[in-house]
Amino acid sequence: MSDGYYNSKKTDDICEEVCGQQASRAALTMSRLRCMLRGFDIKTYIFLFVVIPVFIFGIFLHGQKITYFLRPIWESPPKPFHEIPHYYHENVTMETLCSLHGWKIRESPRRVFDAVLFSNEIDILKLRWNELYPYITQFVLLESNSTFTGLPKPLIFASNRLEFKFIEPRLTYGMIGGRFKKGENPFVEEAYQRVALDQLIRIAGIEDDDLLIMSDVDEIPSAHSINLLRWCDGVPPIIHLQLRNYLYSFEYHVDNKSWRASVHRYKTGKTRYAHYRQADVVLSDAGWHCSFCFRHIREFIFKMKAYSHTDRVRFSHYLNPKRIQDVICRGADLFDMIPEEYTFKEIIGKMGPIPHSYSAVHLPAYLLNNAEEYKYLLPGNCKRESG
Ligand SMILES: *[C@@H]1O[C@H](CO)[C@@H](O)[C@H](O)[C@H]1NC(C)=O
Ligand SMILES: *[C@@H]1O[C@H](CO)[C@@H](O)[C@H](O)[C@H]1NC(C)=O
Ligand SMILES: *[C@@H]1O[C@H](CO)[C@@H](O)[C@H](O)[C@H]1NC(C)=O
Repeated sequence: MSDGYYNSKKTDDICEEVCGQQASRAALTMSRLRCMLRGFDIKTYIFLFVVIPVFIFGIFLHGQKITYFLRPIWESPPKPFHEIPHYYHENVTMETLCSLHGWKIRESPRRVFDAVLFSNEIDILKLRWNELYPYITQFVLLESNSTFTGLPKPLIFASNRLEFKFIEPRLTYGMIGGRFKKGENPFVEEAYQRVALDQLIRIAGIEDDDLLIMSDVDEIPSAHSINLLRWCDGVPPIIHLQLRNYLYSFEYHVDNKSWRASVHRYKTGKTRYAHYRQADVVLSDAGWHCSFCFRHIREFIFKMKAYSHTDRVRFSHYLNPKRIQDVICRGADLFDMIPEEYTFKEIIGKMGPIPHSYSAVHLPAYLLNNAEEYKYLLPGNCKRESG
């Protein structure tokens, strides 16, 4: 039996030698290992030529899923934020609200600038600007004819500008030509556009000690949060806003952990428009982040292609309109990804579709006042307009 090469006389000699305890300790261990491996050679072959190739093929197909699932092993969570408790009721005076936060009321509110890089989120922009309208001095909007991924983009805001007549006197609009560099990391174009936005904010007339909101269009601070920050003295100079995360519409409440939006007390030469972590404090429950909250399926497709993480569109069928509609109604993931979390508990807790939420309490007022027009954002209306 088993007369293979490895069971030749020579091999046996080595093994015998080991068993005879002639060698040093280290050599002994090594040789024992070698003898063991030789005994398992068929299994080794199976491992080498079946298990490893299947594993590599699996990584090829689902590499991202695997790395994301194993994320708790290779990445530890960032330092937690210091969460500032947030007090609000419409019937409580501003003086009381400021003092509840440990701040002091001012004689007059600060001026507030709201600056965004615009892609194609027309409906969400309208919700945003209507929500913030009473408290904003200048709305600053920059759009480019290039997506972050270098695809040509029509000037969607410019062609819809008439719908925004209500803020026209307070609008500083800028357009920037894309650089259309093929194969470049999309973060470079994004950074380039953010620098241009810095200049536009200065053109809009911002001065030291004015407040500047830095956030994506779909990160909407609640009006009362901005009103609080402009009326109180003692607010940290940079404060992040914790927003409720929604996906596709306000029917899918993912979590409450959005933190990228921030409010800055402007300092000439120091304040730079950014969308990453810039401070350790975050104001609790300060608004909404509605990702992929589009009216038309074509806007989903555009955003999926224009997105900074384009490597997520791994298969072309991800862009199939039927699939997209189905994913929305199930509350599933457009990119078929694993939740981006730092612990196995959270990853597993978030796997599968997002549960439906039937609460439309505490949503932007403009949305509820125009519910018929924005029906697709409200619970129970997942079907999108085609075309
Ligand atoms: C708000 O305050 C007024 C007077 O202070 C009171 O009559 C009213 O009931 C209050 N409303 C709510 C919703 O608490
Ligand atoms: C983008 O805008 C720049 C500046 O207006 C212009 O020169 C360029 O031709 C435009 N490119 C496309 C593809 O629209
Ligand atoms: C988000 O926060 C609100 C208020 O604190 C809470 O009622 C709700 O359950 C939270 N939702 C999720 C999905 O964590």
